[in-house]
Amino acid sequence: MRKPIRSEPPRAVTFVIFGATGNLSREKLLPALYQLEVAGRLAESSRIIGFGRRDWDDATWREEVRQLCLAGRTEEACSSDDAIERLLAKLHFHNGDLNDTGCFENLADRLMHAEYPDCVVFYFAVSPTAFGAICRNLGACGLTDETLGCRHVVIEKPFGHDIDSAHALDGLLHQYFDEHQIFRIDHYLGKGTVQNIMVMRFANLLLEPLWNRNYIDHVQISHAEEQGIEGRGGYYDSAGALRDMVQSHLMQMLALTAMEPPASMDAEAVRDEKVKVLRCIRPISHRGVHAQAFRAQYARGTVGGTNVPGYLDEPGVPDDSVTETFAAIKLYIDNWRWRDVPFYLRTGKRMKKSHSQISIRFREPPQQLFRETQVANTAPNWLLIGIQPEENFRFEMQIKTEGLEMRTRTVQMDATYTGEKPTNLDAYATLLLDVMNGDQTLFLRYDEVSWAWRVVDPILRNWAVERDYIPTYPVGSWGPSEADRLFDADSHRWRNNLKIPGED
Ligand code: BG6
Repeated sequence: MRKPIRSEPPRAVTFVIFGATGNLSREKLLPALYQLEVAGRLAESSRIIGFGRRDWDDATWREEVRQLCLAGRTEEACSSDDAIERLLAKLHFHNGDLNDTGCFENLADRLMHAEYPDCVVFYFAVSPTAFGAICRNLGACGLTDETLGCRHVVIEKPFGHDIDSAHALDGLLHQYFDEHQIFRIDHYLGKGTVQNIMVMRFANLLLEPLWNRNYIDHVQISHAEEQGIEGRGGYYDSAGALRDMVQSHLMQMLALTAMEPPASMDAEAVRDEKVKVLRCIRPISHRGVHAQAFRAQYARGTVGGTNVPGYLDEPGVPDDSVTETFAAIKLYIDNWRWRDVPFYLRTGKRMKKSHSQISIRFREPPQQLFRETQVANTAPNWLLIGIQPEENFRFEMQIKTEGLEMRTRTVQMDATYTGEKPTNLDAYATLLLDVMNGDQTLFLRYDEVSWAWRVVDPILRNWAVERDYIPTYPVGSWGPSEADRLFDADSHRWRNNLKIPGED
């Protein structure tokens, strides 16, 4: 779903990154800005201000960014790269402390210079504990006022820690900003295939008649990562897989898969429909948590002959932590389309392969016409949506094999999404472009966030008090087999990849 606005000439903006030297900025934002520069999507007069505590000047930051963006490239490739020079020319470092109002006054003075475009995007690439100070200081220095140009603010997930803290954070933001200025980012919405779920559903007539409880048996949304927590012990141990992945990214994929067609592709129309789905998710009762949710933690082991530490061995993780690195939940959406169709959501770190996919299993045909033949069991149809690393759709169906006998086999129709020359645009690049253009379609409205918290809150409350024990799974596995107890039927099994079962 590319909106026409993304093909218009790029709009000039001043991009202010709070936490410019931090992880998010280095790993996601600056590489994404570089990609936009390569793609010619940054206006020449745009400026990027890195706000940080280090005693750096423009030259130091530029050199850092050059190394970052060109890492792993040959000297020859670097020297012929004009884009990096164009990007570096836009960068300025603003030395400052987030708690010091004086530093924001200097920022305000700086932004008055003609060099800086009037439309300003503030990116909060810092820990949520710093949001309050930034908001207060921006407000105190008149930097939230839109009289001179747009003032957009980008907030990363997790948006709060639970429903109450999300509410408090929203209250804080609204003291300083109006809703049209707030961009709550969930980078999954910037992924090509995630957006393609809507195109596949609403630009093709074929699926719509089948897209409901009469034809669909169950839906799986699965995200697995080979990596562990990558040095993020401090953050991760207070979050866990349910907050880190399920409440945000997986719930968004569920909403796009299950939503009704929106009245238009306007931001409000699309978000209204996502909210309706989230509101219809059957609340999980305190007593229902065990039947609908399962958690586990990776334990040390060997992968390919190499010893891999367990979660409790990771730096920053307390020895007695029961934080989950694997979470699986089962949800029901109580509306006309989906009532009683289980939606299984699963995520885990240090799993066998990094792989995300949505798998939709259709019901069995009503009549087993081939029972009297050699066709022992006909497998049901599946629609598999590969999110990453492969981006494609596969429809699985049964056909007769060659020869005289009546036998069937499973085949897949494959609609590969990426072309021969993938665009190499990261999800962040897409979303940053939308922020610059003021398009909120792919950003979360507060009611979406709060309904998603309502779904997981009962599970979090249970897990918070069950602190004696957490099941484990070996690193490099597909997670604990006990998670299968969530399945509603014996025939339900996780699809771990896009291959035909038995051929993987
Ligand atoms: C982030 C989580 O939001 O998403 C990480 O905090 C996770 O823990 C990451 O690894 C996964 O994103 P992607 O795009 O690599 O699938």
